[in-house]
Amino acid sequence: MKITGKTGIMFMLADPVAHVVGSHRLNARFEAEGLDVAVSPLHVPAADLASVVTAIRRMRNVIGFGVTIPHKIDVLPLLDAATPRAARVGAVNFVRREADGTLTGDNIDGAGFVDGLQHSAIDLRGLKVLQLGAGGAGRAVAFAIAEAGAAELVIHNRTEAKARALAADIAAAIPQCLTAAGANDARGFDLVVNTTSMGMHAVDPLPLDLTTLSASTAVAEIIMSPEITPLLAAAQALGCRTALGKHMLDEQYKLVKELLGL
Ligand SMILES: NC(=O)c1ccc[n+]([C@@H]2O[C@H](COP(=O)([O-])OP(=O)(O)OC[C@H]3O[C@@H](n4cnc5c(N)ncnc54)[C@H](OP(=O)(O)O)[C@@H]3O)[C@@H](O)[C@H]2O)c1
Repeated sequence: MKITGKTGIMFMLADPVAHVVGSHRLNARFEAEGLDVAVSPLHVPAADLASVVTAIRRMRNVIGFGVTIPHKIDVLPLLDAATPRAARVGAVNFVRREADGTLTGDNIDGAGFVDGLQHSAIDLRGLKVLQLGAGGAGRAVAFAIAEAGAAELVIHNRTEAKARALAADIAAAIPQCLTAAGANDARGFDLVVNTTSMGMHAVDPLPLDLTTLSASTAVAEIIMSPEITPLLAAAQALGCRTALGKHMLDEQYKLVKELLGL
């Protein structure tokens, strides 16, 4: 990759940063298409987020940036505008920087997740879905699942109040999908989606009570690294259909290009 003064620079803001793979995947796609854009991960602790965002406004060769754990929610009030889907979700994962430094946030996690399911031939219409997690990515994914036509959505989260709040937001916005907070129990569901960060590290406990999982339930993961999390490995061993987190990210490439006008 050749980076020059003409290259459109992007960042990926995260803390920690070592696990970030999105920048590498985006760079590979930009290079394959011959686009003069380069993405660098930036290690930004939460306490420094506001000053880094202010600095980016003044960096004239920066065309935008991605944000991941733990910044997706906190970055929203630091921006000038948000797309309707980012405002509804209350979290941002990509930001466009205009020539005058104006910053507009979008959230393409949910659309990427739904499009990524096509790699496993999973169509959400009419499905009963159990979602684990209600964090930044979880909020985006839950809205997208309901919007894509799932019949029922149950959200389980360690902090139950967040699951209840998310379920209420979705029930108000998309009443045709029956949405509620609920238990960590996969029985009777067509699809289980893990949106927690449990599975990124070998020591993490499984996010799902496996005794409730059977081969008739598909399991989707949004964690990208490792590609096969312990949850996916267990689901595959049981004969469940599985969907990988990397497809969610890969499907966001075209959406990033749209946002940045590339
Ligand atoms: N494939 C992709 O394109 C893509 C896109 C975005 C994110 N991701 C991945 O998605 C994961 C979540 O990201 P995020 O931005 O949503 O993070 P986040 O906002 O920090 O949310 C983390 C979620 O995990 C739960 N959690 C954390 N520690 C837990 C524990 N010890 N036990 C049970 N639950 C726990 C949290 O529950 P509480 O609410 O109780 O804290 C929350 O639901 C990360 O692995 C990230 O890499 C993938």
